[in-house]
Amino acid sequence: MVLHLVEHLGFTGCLICFFVLLLIVDLIRNKNPSNFPPGPWPLPFVGNIFTGLDFRTIDKLAERHGEVFSLRWGSEKTVFVSGYKMVKEALITQLDSFADRPVVPLFHKVFKGLGVVLSNGYLWRAQRKFVVTHLRTFGEAKKNLETSIQQECVFLCDAFKEEGGPFDPQFFLNNAVSNIICSLVFGHRFDYHDENFLAVLRFDIEAVILAGSNQAQLYNAFPRLFEYLPGPHQKIFANYEKIVDFLKDEIRKHKEDWDPSDPRDYIDAYLAEMEKKKSDPEAGFNMETLVVATLDMLEAGTESAATTLRWGLLFMMKYPHIQENVQAEIDRVIGQSRQPTLDDRANMPYTEAVIHETQRMGNIVPLGFPKKACKDTTLGGYFIPKGTSVTTNLSSVLNDKSEWETPDTFNPGHFLDDQGKFRKRDAFLPFSAGRRSCVGEPLARMELFLFFTSLLQQFTFSPEPGVELSLEGQLGFTYSPGPYRLCVSPR
Ligand code: HEM
Repeated sequence: MVLHLVEHLGFTGCLICFFVLLLIVDLIRNKNPSNFPPGPWPLPFVGNIFTGLDFRTIDKLAERHGEVFSLRWGSEKTVFVSGYKMVKEALITQLDSFADRPVVPLFHKVFKGLGVVLSNGYLWRAQRKFVVTHLRTFGEAKKNLETSIQQECVFLCDAFKEEGGPFDPQFFLNNAVSNIICSLVFGHRFDYHDENFLAVLRFDIEAVILAGSNQAQLYNAFPRLFEYLPGPHQKIFANYEKIVDFLKDEIRKHKEDWDPSDPRDYIDAYLAEMEKKKSDPEAGFNMETLVVATLDMLEAGTESAATTLRWGLLFMMKYPHIQENVQAEIDRVIGQSRQPTLDDRANMPYTEAVIHETQRMGNIVPLGFPKKACKDTTLGGYFIPKGTSVTTNLSSVLNDKSEWETPDTFNPGHFLDDQGKFRKRDAFLPFSAGRRSCVGEPLARMELFLFFTSLLQQFTFSPEPGVELSLEGQLGFTYSPGPYRLCVSPR
């Protein structure tokens, strides 16, 4: 029959027929359900693969297609939700509609749907509850967290003092912030010159930057096609493999000298939970999940807070009068003879406002973490079927023109009332909101306050002479300042 067809249509004719057939299959397979969110016209087979998935492009598309629109990369459709009102509707009003995570091939290889950040269902609930309880017990009952952050502030300030000339603070800040998580999870910190740990931080930073590249997104759209091809995804996998080896080693050491009657940290508490939950395997308390759960904490708990602090120091250099105001408040409330404490927060509205504004303008997780509709849902009048990937554009909330007086300007006044008291803002959602909101928010807020205030109590920050600082960030999975060097003058 094939021969007969070739004879009749000719080779070119057959090719055209085959192509048309593929086109029809593609059209049928990717047909949108009725009332699905609109979006730019997709190309056959590849969809909107030439449309970047960075927050600036998404902002522009939202202007054209509305606050709820869709894109298709390969066969993978994603709905993007923008603006405070619509994001609030998705995350808070419809609390249970978008509480799942989709499979993100780039991360699935390592995270395997285990742990907290990228898991779902019963396992996610059990693991999240465990992290929240552990953070609370460790933080409140023992007041350990505050002390451990204060101690780290001393190490960080000493390290800054030792630097003679202008220097890049990135690794110091990442190491300092990561040490808080390490104390919590491993029960100890790492020296700023520990080559092994610096390598882990380097792998992490590199993976976070590469994960945001368009080539890495291509792997997400066509994982089977790119599996064996070179590209940034291979580097990301290799980096994670090395980080996981490091974590496995820490866990092995913990197991060797584990004393169930004296839990020292998160890993010990997890090992005890594994014993307790033996009869409930669905909750996922096993060695494989422990590795991922530890990676979750190191990943989610390091880059985010360290990047925020890096934005903070950059803004202080860029706006020296704001730096002076913060220092005046520190001198008035704390002075120079003692370390900042968490109780000082209540008396330092200006500093609190500057930290919040740093998070708003820093915009470090512009598109949040990916989500998935857990049931058929209607949002903004559009139908979103169960299983569709959904991205909430947090950047568009932090810059929403109808919520912020001067969205494009660094303005601590956004968080101050007429009397100079701190005021909360509804559209302040850097930690997202709803069921999947950041579990580390209370810890992150403690870290940001104590590190930022300690640094400004001890030093004045300025740029290298003759260097114009840029506020243009680097887009990876997070949005971070480009590399910069700073000069520190002890106060
Ligand atoms: C300034 C610092 C931080 C920022 C801006 C931040 C931001 C975020 C955001 C935007 C999400 C996604 C929420 C969503 O999907 O809706 C998230 C999730 C998460 N964060 Fe953070 N985070 C920070 C610090 C931390 C810290 C210190 C920890 C460590 C304890 C942490 C642990 C997590 C975890 C485990 C999740 C996943 C929650 C889930 O899927 O249920 N974060 N964070």
